Amino acid sequence: MIIAPSLLASNFARFGNEAARAHRSGAEWLHLDVMDGHFVPNISFGAEVVRAVRPYFKRELDVHLMCSRPEILLEPFTEAGSDSITIHVELGAQVTPLLWKIRSLGKRVGLAVNPPTNIAEVRPYLKKLDVVLIMTVNPGFGGQPFIHETLPKVQQLAAWRKELGLNYRIEVDGGINFETVKECARCGADTFVAGTSLFHRKNLGAAVRRMRKLAISAAA
Ligand code: DX5
Ligand code: ZN
Repeated sequence: MIIAPSLLASNFARFGNEAARAHRSGAEWLHLDVMDGHFVPNISFGAEVVRAVRPYFKRELDVHLMCSRPEILLEPFTEAGSDSITIHVELGAQVTPLLWKIRSLGKRVGLAVNPPTNIAEVRPYLKKLDVVLIMTVNPGFGGQPFIHETLPKVQQLAAWRKELGLNYRIEVDGGINFETVKECARCGADTFVAGTSLFHRKNLGAAVRRMRKLAISAAA
């Protein structure tokens, strides 16, 4: 099980300190939500923030691009120190060349799917992926309520993974808290992005450990 606190819910005046706090918490990944004000109705931060936090979080930096033109961003984000890069299946014809490009840059390859998008859209790409990210809220903002109707997608991805003998991770993102983490883990998720429910806690380490423990016991 991987717990990935989302920097979107951290204190934006203190990115370095917040990344260091995430490191000390023992979280396996730090999730970075990149929003361009076009693919989603919000703007967050760019590659320079990845570069700034790189020295403070020493494990994997998980970059989620909610952007209309990721082709102009893959190199800057790689150069800034990202370990994995996730793009969205809603980009259509651009998806194949983008996945190929991320792979060629030597990064972990992720593909995300929004709540209204059918999971069948992801099926043709599965063999090329290290991570499939199921959006469990509509992307753009932290702190939204979990959409339960997305859970069958998690189950379908787990079934395909078994059927096809693949080993991509199943990551859930949005509205993950100490209750919804259990539902997701029961359906087959193994990687949990959580912003509000982790970063807003005083003791981040305890919150990460609690979330990991709940995921492990729900999956057992
Ligand atoms: C939503 C982002 C999420 C967000 C999750 O657009 O992709 O990663 O940070 O935040 P919470 O956990 O607050 O829903
Ligand atoms: Zn995200």
